Amino acid sequence: MSSSARTKRSLYMEWAKTHSHAKYNLATSGLIGVPRTEFPINLDELEITAPGGYGYRPLQQRLARHAGVPEECVVAAAGTSMANHLAMAAVLEPGDEVLFEQPAYGPLLDVVNYLGARVKRLPRRFEARFAVGLDELQRAITPATRLIVLTNLHNPSGALLSEEVLQAIGKLAHRARVHVLVDEVYLEMLFDKHPPFCFPIGNAIASANENPFIVTSSLTKVYGLSGLRCGWILAAPDLARRMWLLNDLFAATAAHPAERLSVMALDHLAQFRERARLLLATNRALLDSFLDSRRDLECFRPPAGTVVFPRLGLTHRDPEAFFQLLREKYETTVVPGSFFELPRHFRMGIGGDTESLRVGLERLSAALEASAKP
Ligand SMILES: Cc1ncc(COP(=O)(O)O)c(C=O)c1O
Repeated sequence: MSSSARTKRSLYMEWAKTHSHAKYNLATSGLIGVPRTEFPINLDELEITAPGGYGYRPLQQRLARHAGVPEECVVAAAGTSMANHLAMAAVLEPGDEVLFEQPAYGPLLDVVNYLGARVKRLPRRFEARFAVGLDELQRAITPATRLIVLTNLHNPSGALLSEEVLQAIGKLAHRARVHVLVDEVYLEMLFDKHPPFCFPIGNAIASANENPFIVTSSLTKVYGLSGLRCGWILAAPDLARRMWLLNDLFAATAAHPAERLSVMALDHLAQFRERARLLLATNRALLDSFLDSRRDLECFRPPAGTVVFPRLGLTHRDPEAFFQLLREKYETTVVPGSFFELPRHFRMGIGGDTESLRVGLERLSAALEASAKP
């Protein structure tokens, strides 16, 4: 494939939309969607169109309260996907150098390529529990570096960046006058374990020169509310303003019914959080006993989240053939590690309904038995 074709599409997203579906889908990374019957809809509060502006005030207020930052730091966007695109487009010029974690969520990397930036990889190694090496990061920064891109929790491994590590990254970045984009779309899966939201680490209302962090997130993954496309960016006010102005070239205005529904969702977030917490507590126990039972898989077990990224042992000689067998004969999908540049791994998610997960894991075990060659 030519490099220009590579930069104007996302192979992972195409695969997710066309090939990830299966009777037992362990490929999704989010929580099973909230059905309309469980959504606290108030039809009297629904409206089709509103006067245009930079954000719908009631939504801006709720997002700011949710994130614990002033409203002028919040830019609403269509999902974390658009939030990431907008955030990176606002700070990058063609030819700028971007330090990008590896393995990485493909569509994020595809956007950097599309924007014409030069990508330099920052390894997060399986052997190091997918941590970010601070010395390595420091050595990798050059005068051309403009942005560092990380996910927290890490997709695909689920690894958590601690507050101390984020503080250290913030200091390095501030000294080098580099921005740090942290995609936090999975972070609230820590529930009561006090997520190290990195935005308040910097002084939220300082200028972008003083606070290097840019944070993106949405209601998609943790709360099972993907359809609302309720995403946001947190950035220093001067940078946030630049993003709003740039958005005039992209979406211009948001779908207003979605803004109204997002306000309703944020007013009932505790209900969705509890649903997620209970489901994941049950499902994680199933995952743990599955992993305990498999000597042919090596797996870093993250502290929270919906995904893990096991590595197939050498008895599985052809990972791609294994994924095909799993899908075709066992009606079960996982995300092949090739989408994360590590073909012996696969990513599996536990955010589905418990019974499907239980059967999916049984089928995964059966397929592993069938594929192993001594
Ligand atoms: C790291 C990461 N960022 C963003 C997204 C997309 O999120 P959203 O549905 O909010 O656009 C995903 C989806 O898998 C993801 O894994």
